[in-house]
Amino acid sequence: KKLAVFVSGGGSNFRSIHEACVGGSVHGDVVVLVTNKHGCGGAEYARDNDIPVISFPKSNDEPNGSSPNDLVAALRKFEVDFILLAGYLKLIPVELIQAYPKSIVNIHPSLLPAFGGKGYYGMKVHKAVIASGARYSGPTIHFVDEHYDTGRILAQKAVPVLWDDTAEVLAARVLREEHRLYVDVVAALCEERVIGREDGVPLIQSKE
Ligand code: GRF
Repeated sequence: KKLAVFVSGGGSNFRSIHEACVGGSVHGDVVVLVTNKHGCGGAEYARDNDIPVISFPKSNDEPNGSSPNDLVAALRKFEVDFILLAGYLKLIPVELIQAYPKSIVNIHPSLLPAFGGKGYYGMKVHKAVIASGARYSGPTIHFVDEHYDTGRILAQKAVPVLWDDTAEVLAARVLREEHRLYVDVVAALCEERVIGREDGVPLIQSKE
C-alpha cells in the first residue's frame, strides 16, 4: 500500500514507520510527506531519504497557498491508500476526510477519550495526565473525523504513570510504545486486517 505521512515536528513516529517499510515488516511505502513546517525534523528526514515533501497549509508569506482540493489532487497523483498523521498539529480539512473515508489515522499520546481534543497536544497532554493522578496513560491510534481526537479508536496501549514522573519522562515512555503500536497498526492496514464491528467500531485481526 502507498502511504502519506503528515508531520509538524521531529517525526520519530514517521521514522519508525519508514524504517519498518524499508525493512519489510510493513508491506507499505511512504510515497509522500506532508508538513505545515517545511524546516521540521520530519521534513528533513524525508528529504534525506528522497521522499517528496508537500507543504500544507503553506505559510502566509508564501504566495499561491494550496487549497484542500489541491492537496487531495496531489495525494491522488501519488496514488495514496492511507494517510498517517504523526504529530501533525493542524486540523484535517473536510475535503480530505471525504476523499479518504476510513483511510486517515492519527496517533495521540493519551488513552482517549481522556486528555484529548483541541488544546491537548505535546507536553500539555502529559502534564494534565500527571496532574489528574491517573495511574495509566499511553498512546491511542484512531481514525480521523472532522474534530480533534474523536474518531473511532483502532488501538491503544496502557503505559504506567509513575509517582515521580515529569511530563518529559512520561512522554518518553509513551513515545516508545507509540513507535511499536503505530508500526503494528500500519502493518495491519497494509495487510487489510482491519475489520468493522456492526456499530462501526474497528478491530484489528491478528496475523494468520
Ligand atoms: C507524538 O507524541 C504523537 O502522539 C503526537 O505528536 C507526537 C509526535 O512525535 N500526536 P514525533 O514527531 O513522531 O516524534
